[in-house]
Amino acid sequence: MTDDAREPKNPYPAEVYRQEFSVPFDYPVYFTQQAFAADNPLLADVLDRRREGRRHRAAVYVDAGLAQAQPGLIDRIKEYFHARPGLLELAEPPQIVPGGEAAKNGWGPVRDVMWTLGNLHMDRQSFVIAVGGGAMLDMVGFAASLVHRGLRLVRLPSTVLAQNDAGVGVKNGMDEHGMKNFVGTFAPPFAVINDLSFLPTLADRDWAGGIAEAFKVALIKDAAFFEFLCTHAAALRRRDLTAMEQLIRRCAILHLEHIRTGGDPFELGSARPLDFGHWLAHKLETMSAYRLGHGQAVAIGIAVDSWTALKQGLISTDQFERTLTGLTAAGLPIWDECLSRRAPGGALEALDGLEQFREHLGGLLCITLPRGLGDKVEVHQMNPAVIEEGVEFLRGRGGGR
Ligand SMILES: NC(=O)c1ccc[n+]([C@@H]2O[C@H](COP(=O)([O-])OP(=O)(O)OC[C@H]3O[C@@H](n4cnc5c(N)ncnc54)[C@H](O)[C@@H]3O)[C@@H](O)[C@H]2O)c1
Ligand SMILES: [Zn+2]
Repeated sequence: MTDDAREPKNPYPAEVYRQEFSVPFDYPVYFTQQAFAADNPLLADVLDRRREGRRHRAAVYVDAGLAQAQPGLIDRIKEYFHARPGLLELAEPPQIVPGGEAAKNGWGPVRDVMWTLGNLHMDRQSFVIAVGGGAMLDMVGFAASLVHRGLRLVRLPSTVLAQNDAGVGVKNGMDEHGMKNFVGTFAPPFAVINDLSFLPTLADRDWAGGIAEAFKVALIKDAAFFEFLCTHAAALRRRDLTAMEQLIRRCAILHLEHIRTGGDPFELGSARPLDFGHWLAHKLETMSAYRLGHGQAVAIGIAVDSWTALKQGLISTDQFERTLTGLTAAGLPIWDECLSRRAPGGALEALDGLEQFREHLGGLLCITLPRGLGDKVEVHQMNPAVIEEGVEFLRGRGGGR
């Protein structure tokens, strides 16, 4: 008997026309100082980088925390544009928008930005320039990606974490439905300008936050960078700007390389290696009602997942200890009281973060753990008992600080 004879004939014939195309993306990431100094040509060059032979219209949004810490900034931005009337046009005076997690914790700020863009009649070739921390960049970037299905976005990240991670990538987002980044889009920016001179006014917490992302990426991708971080942890905590500049560059480049060469820039698969430690970090941020900053939560997530890696024989005791020592020496926490909170059934409440993380990415649970120094492995199961044991161990190490 032939196969044809065995299988019932499909009564619903279908025809297919295969549509396929690819679109290249490219955006420069600059490192500079005093981007809005009257005689720094970089921003003007960036807006004109496609040499379109016309005046560029821009709406500028500034993080409220940054505007408060650096009072002359708004005037400098205005002067920068007014000094180049043939090339640049400021659509309206720079707008101050909320900074910190409050910026992305509801639709209010996103809607406000979209409305101003509409009122200013910004078109798809106009620029939205966002100057601020990672949360504000996520919010303004989200709004800019929705209006007319996407305006040109130039980011000027103003925190360590925004310069070495949040501001250089292809994502934006907002917290909704009780979850971090529940809504958002993938939208590569037109350009990024990392201006080191924004950093000295950061609060200690926001100075240290980005160091956690550097440990994260070093542990899974770059052993030499991990050595650098351990050696310079105390200097980084003392706010040594030279050490921080090196950290930011290396960390930003590792993120950029991953996006470019990792094979999945828009995260269509289930793995997200750059989110080592993040299933727990995102859960702790929401559990703590954002008392914990993203970087602080990431440091705790790295510590807890490194315990699992240790117990699975993926890393040595020495590497585990150096990770904890490095994080704490840099001024980062490795434990928080939220970790002891229990759900009604008795399990650690933080463990819900595993399923939320799986759902966010889709498909199988996929958690990245370090393997040796500078390498990683994806695992599809996490043992709650081991996590609980790690939490107890870390309470002893970090809880009493
Ligand atoms: N889109 C992504 O790929 C991505 C990646 C990583 C993190 N994130 C997001 O980034 C956010 C965290 O960003 P963050 O660590 O930059 O913190 P943040 O944006 O919450 O900013 C922290 C605080 O610093 C203030 N501030 C900003 N710049 C300042 C300056 N130069 N001087 C003084 N104060 C200043 C802000 O007003 C805020 O109060 C989280 O919401 C996280 O989810 C996004
Ligand atoms: Zn992160």
